[in-house]
Amino acid sequence: MNELQQKVEQVVDLLTNAAQEFAPLAFANSLGAEDMVLTDIIDRHQLDIWMFSLDTGRLPQETYDLMQTLRTRYSTPLRVYFPNVKQVESYVAENGVNGFYDSIALRKSCCHVRKVEPLRRALHGKHGWVTGMRHEQAVTRAGLEISAYDINNRMQKLNPLLEWSHKDVWQYIKQHDVPYNKLHDQFYPSIGCAPCSRAVTPGEDERAGRWWWESADGKECGLHVGKVIPIK
Ligand code: ADX
Ligand code: SF4
Repeated sequence: MNELQQKVEQVVDLLTNAAQEFAPLAFANSLGAEDMVLTDIIDRHQLDIWMFSLDTGRLPQETYDLMQTLRTRYSTPLRVYFPNVKQVESYVAENGVNGFYDSIALRKSCCHVRKVEPLRRALHGKHGWVTGMRHEQAVTRAGLEISAYDINNRMQKLNPLLEWSHKDVWQYIKQHDVPYNKLHDQFYPSIGCAPCSRAVTPGEDERAGRWWWESADGKECGLHVGKVIPIK
């Protein structure tokens, strides 16, 4: 068995056990490259994991195209959550539709309305959640654990691809012909909302294109800011 196959087996074991131990277990799927690997693994092994995506209303067309492809390629359904209409309406009335460019506080409050509040609803009643985060992606992700208690959401949080490299992710995608976001071919290693993501140049950090006007040590959208306790 080669190194990547071993890593895949470890992910399957981890998720199979977590799906029992932390049932019901949810997978937060942004449709980025890492999350497409997890989608493929979950579907291929028919793991008992419920999959959802947060549609902020500002996603790139390429992400919607992939969301549509996912429906035909995989049997695991993807449940899509939208922001609360009243909260979006009042944010836009107060700050304008692109108010998030005006200050870091307004950027964080936009992420709160469009991502964090829907995440809370998506996770309601779940006992654990899975993300596609990796150590390598950012300085803010260096201290993450593969499995830890998430105090903010009061449930276990699993990051099964934490130690995967960028190369591992793309080797898996190519080997299994996994569909992926076309923006990755246009130098977008990390894709979020369209107005807050841009392409990177060679040598730049993987998340340099996300909120590129902010400094690297504070660039999290609020989905992953809470403290975790490393209880395995
Ligand atoms: S983030 O700052 O936007 O959260 P990133 O795009 O690197 O960063 O995503 C990290 C993880 O957060 C993803 O692997 C996924 O589990 C979760 N996530 C991010 N955006 C979404 C989304 N729109 N819907 C569902 N999950 C998401
Ligand atoms: Fe708003 Fe940008 Fe955050 Fe999307 S990434 S929720 S558009 S601030």
